[in-house]
Amino acid sequence: MTEPLLSLRSHIDAIKGFGELREVRGAHWDLELGGIAELSYRRDLPPALLFDEIVGYRAGLRVLTGSTGSPRRLGRTLRLGDDLDDVGVVEALRGKPSQWAAAAKQFPVERVDSAPLLANEVPGEQVNLLDFPVPRWHAHDGGRFIGTGCFIVTSDPETGVHNGGCYRMEVQDDGRSVTVAAVPGKHGAQHIQRWFEREGRAPVTVSFGHDPLLLVLGGTEVPRGVSELEYAGAVLGARVPVVEGTDTGLPIPAGSEIAIEGWLRPDHLRDEGPFGEWTGYYSGRRRPNLAIDITRLWHRDDPILLGAPPGKPPHDYSYMRTVMKSAMISDELAATGVPGVVKAWAHESGGGRLFVAVSLQQRYPGHARQVAYLAAQCPAAAYMNRYVVVVDDDIDPADLDQVIWAMSTRSDPSRDIEVMKQTWGSKLDPLWVEGSPTHNSRAIVDACRPYERLDSFPKVAQSDPEFLREIEQRWRDVLL
Ligand SMILES: Cc1cc2nc3c(=O)[nH]c(=O)nc-3n(C[C@H](O)[C@H](O)[C@H](O)COP(=O)(O)O)c2cc1C
Repeated sequence: MTEPLLSLRSHIDAIKGFGELREVRGAHWDLELGGIAELSYRRDLPPALLFDEIVGYRAGLRVLTGSTGSPRRLGRTLRLGDDLDDVGVVEALRGKPSQWAAAAKQFPVERVDSAPLLANEVPGEQVNLLDFPVPRWHAHDGGRFIGTGCFIVTSDPETGVHNGGCYRMEVQDDGRSVTVAAVPGKHGAQHIQRWFEREGRAPVTVSFGHDPLLLVLGGTEVPRGVSELEYAGAVLGARVPVVEGTDTGLPIPAGSEIAIEGWLRPDHLRDEGPFGEWTGYYSGRRRPNLAIDITRLWHRDDPILLGAPPGKPPHDYSYMRTVMKSAMISDELAATGVPGVVKAWAHESGGGRLFVAVSLQQRYPGHARQVAYLAAQCPAAAYMNRYVVVVDDDIDPADLDQVIWAMSTRSDPSRDIEVMKQTWGSKLDPLWVEGSPTHNSRAIVDACRPYERLDSFPKVAQSDPEFLREIEQRWRDVLL
């Protein structure tokens, strides 16, 4: 059988072809696999890791980590090209998120009746998610998290539009159930809430292994009302094949390795967490969370779980998040029609959310603050942002040294830092206090030269670039 679109195996073959896959045999699912992955992320250009012969499991039951952690792997995932470098992948992505969102409706999912996923079907009462080598990723995690690179499909009960989201999922009840930790406000959480109000239960399907395009789209703020499966179709330029859940009727990508379907109910709760999160800290204490009543599971022969464990950055998907968020914030700022925005960058050390820098060419008084406030509240950046720094267009916002130089020399804290209060935060915030609302605040740092002094501001003490190029030619033997 040829591989369906969005198969994880096709992605693995492609990255093997780039020389970016390492196979690891004999690691333990309990912390060892997570530790190897963590050390790997800290290296320059870390490979993807395919774990096999995991202790306690037969050969063939595998886990992949690091699926999008290099420009070539992310470029391949987003179908932007197979040989892009850091700058190339960002350049190729500029403008694409809004085009994909606009084109999504032209790519409705395509229902198919056969898929390798359907090779093995397990009825709900026989499901044991621990038949698969689900890792305990970090020492203080509350349990084994099967859902890190997962793709959870919900639907809008009124319009039927699907949403695909990535929310962490901890195995419960010795493998018979699994919790879904969708933060209130996320599109999937809104769907679930509306189903509860309407029918007292919410249908879901979940895929645990697939082309990482679904991890990227499920894990990124795709605009409300746009189905991530249709959006994926726009990225691929082809309709995504899906099988339909027997009980829920919801789609499951035909390229999936392992999938479940079932129902959430407001009173079906299990204790969940903590979990080592993308902020670089464990999230709070163990607390009750919605658990799926699983009615069916399917898996391919020798299935592969897609792992994407977060942690102190750099982590599994921090590179992907930085690139995606930077492109989406740039796109959303452009869509406001405000002129002069050059580039936005959502820094990896802030988990791609907490610290955003934006460069602009100032055109009028108040322009810099306008861009800063918009950047701090545009949908792609609104959740869990903490700092937005705006800089002039001679500064590369992706270069932290340049951003800090601009902050240190062009912003006066008493005048140029403003604070927005009661903004969209989360229990994941290490500063969040148990029992308080999940608001945070965010600082807008205007590190642009004051508009009224643009002509008179001290000149930057560096030589003219053309002159420096000439010097470089003339003094090549000294400077090489
Ligand atoms: C690996 C990974 C794990 C994530 N875990 C969670 C989570 O547990 N809860 C959550 O609300 N968001 C989580 N996110 C972020 C959401 O996936 C992201 O906000 C996405 O836009 C949600 O989709 P939605 O807005 O369509 O609901 C995670 C993202 C990734 C990539």
